[in-house]
Amino acid sequence: MSQQSINIADIRMDYILAALDEETAGSDPFLFFNTWFREAEAAQITEINAMTLATAGADAAPHARIVLLKGLDDRGFVFFTNYDSAKGADIAANPQVALLFFWKELERQVRIEGKIEKIPESDSDTYFQSRPIGSRIGAWASPQSSEIPHRHILETNFAKYENEFSGIEIPRPPHWGGFVVVPNKIEFWQGRSSRMHDRILYTKTTNKDWVRSRLAP
Ligand SMILES: Cc1cc2nc3c(=O)[nH]c(=O)nc-3n(C[C@H](O)[C@H](O)[C@H](O)COP(=O)(O)O)c2cc1C
Repeated sequence: MSQQSINIADIRMDYILAALDEETAGSDPFLFFNTWFREAEAAQITEINAMTLATAGADAAPHARIVLLKGLDDRGFVFFTNYDSAKGADIAANPQVALLFFWKELERQVRIEGKIEKIPESDSDTYFQSRPIGSRIGAWASPQSSEIPHRHILETNFAKYENEFSGIEIPRPPHWGGFVVVPNKIEFWQGRSSRMHDRILYTKTTNKDWVRSRLAP
């Protein structure tokens, strides 16, 4: 390590941009998520839809990776992936997952926990056809999460499918599609000075109402 490198333990930041109170957060966490998402958009933060997806499969070990939020509907948070991937195997064994957004420019974090389901095939078809052609071919060419001996395999696969689907509509691979995370907890975190952050948690009750509470930072 270089002698000039800064001491990691000395990296710290005081959060001063905003506060979060119950009145602002309101009673509907979906509506409030939309408000924060729009504010992140207005702040011109890049990749505001990048979120960490945490899963724990048959081995009960947590695994986390970034995926892109592609929709928010009445049920929850939608993303697309390869159903045969490592995350797909985790989800098949255990549908309880967590999502995490960190919009550092706004000193905000959103934590989401819930149960995941596949979206209807017709919705996956519609989204798949909206993707750029290269991404559609890529979904066929990449056996996501499988070990491959060399990058060359990907390029050979890509060329093979490019040729196979030349001049015809590229069908959605059966192993590729969307998931929706149906939340039972959504927590909004706003950084505040001296680590006295604001945390507003929404928990879904058995009769599907949201109950709001405040957590200590
Ligand atoms: C910014 C960013 C966006 C990504 N978006 C997706 C996505 O939407 N879907 C996906 O399957 N993988 C996405 N990935 C790749 C995943 O992080 C991960 O490498 C891949 O899904 C394999 O994960 P798994 O082996 O745990 O299944 C993205 C990665 C980054 C850094």
